[in-house]
Amino acid sequence: MLDVDELIDDQETRVVVCCGSGGVGKTTTAAAIALRAAERGRQTVVLTIDPARRLAQALGLRELGNHPRQVQVEGFDPKGELWAMMLDMRRTFDDMVRAHAGPDRAEQLLANPFYQTISTSFSGTQEYMAMEKLGQLAATGDWDLIVVDTPPSRSALDFLDAPTRLSSALDGRMIRLLTAPAKAGGWGLRKVVSAGFTMFAKAVSTIIGGQLLADASAFMQAFDTMFGGFRERARKTSELLRSQGTAFLVVAAPEPDALREASYFVERLSAEHMPLSGLVANRTHPVLADLSATAAISAAERVESSAPLATAVLRLHADRVALAEREERLLARFTRAHPEVPIVRVPALPSDVHDVAGLRDIGDRLAAS
Ligand SMILES: Nc1ncnc2c1ncn2[C@@H]1O[C@H](COP(=O)(O)OP(=O)(O)OP(=O)(O)O)[C@@H](O)[C@H]1O
Ligand SMILES: [Mg+2]
Repeated sequence: MLDVDELIDDQETRVVVCCGSGGVGKTTTAAAIALRAAERGRQTVVLTIDPARRLAQALGLRELGNHPRQVQVEGFDPKGELWAMMLDMRRTFDDMVRAHAGPDRAEQLLANPFYQTISTSFSGTQEYMAMEKLGQLAATGDWDLIVVDTPPSRSALDFLDAPTRLSSALDGRMIRLLTAPAKAGGWGLRKVVSAGFTMFAKAVSTIIGGQLLADASAFMQAFDTMFGGFRERARKTSELLRSQGTAFLVVAAPEPDALREASYFVERLSAEHMPLSGLVANRTHPVLADLSATAAISAAERVESSAPLATAVLRLHADRVALAEREERLLARFTRAHPEVPIVRVPALPSDVHDVAGLRDIGDRLAAS
């Protein structure tokens, strides 16, 4: 059994990461946990990614601010504080460039077509920027709990792979060639390599076009100075994710594909020594009445001719019991494979979760089981 209150009440818990595959309820879970933590007295910030518009509105996030704002809405008077922000990937990237490349270089970089491509279309940029933002929030020391939502990736693993993938893309062969002058080490050597580079550049420019090469080369030269810092911060954030104060929650629907994906993720976390707190089985269908499917069906058969409404209700109940049993079987299978991972079940609520009351309801259910 996963004890969410114990987790969020523990002052040692500094970061909670909600991950899982697309559409399972990561954003909802992250917001609900942050809200609950704030109500239980913690100085909390939640970093959301692409929240549904109505949820964003409910949290008072009317625009992509890219900086946390305190949530101040009717009917919400927490003991602690709740701050929230939506990640703006492009702005996080731009801010990072401005902060680390120096003013002149930054403007050059931001205007460079290669930068435009990398910052908007490279797959994994959003995941990387989420990590970067987490690092920034942690560095301020303004909050004692940071709850992180993860991007709607196809696979939950993308979040962990992104920094490496981005680094290795930037480390790619062509880029290594282009940055060779700056990376060659000592100044004297660099000069020699630079000469070689100019020859190389001449040769290549006749093939791929002078402007393109000039852009790429200018981009890499500007980027190179901040590249070290860039990777260094990725390493620090990844260290933060491995630290004692971090808790991963894997969110999954009680369905075969989602649970299979969750299984991979659990194995990956453990291989990476990242601390997993548990699995949130979201949108389960618990049975409310204590009547077995078989009993319901036989009752339905008995009253079929005399009471059509009762028959329909009994059959619905039988379907619902069958669904609940199927979900429990799937969860039991997960537990057999990962006996050490506690599960918390959150039932499917009758409507979408898009206000404080809804989030509180999800929070109560997270803590109840
Ligand atoms: N337990 C629940 N009961 C009812 N509705 C829910 C529940 N959990 C989530 N939802 C709804 O399901 C939708 C998807 O949830 P959410 O946005 O949290 O998923 P997500 O994993 O963040 O998706 P994405 O991968 O696209 O970011 C939302 O409209 C949300 O209100
Ligand atoms: Mg989401």
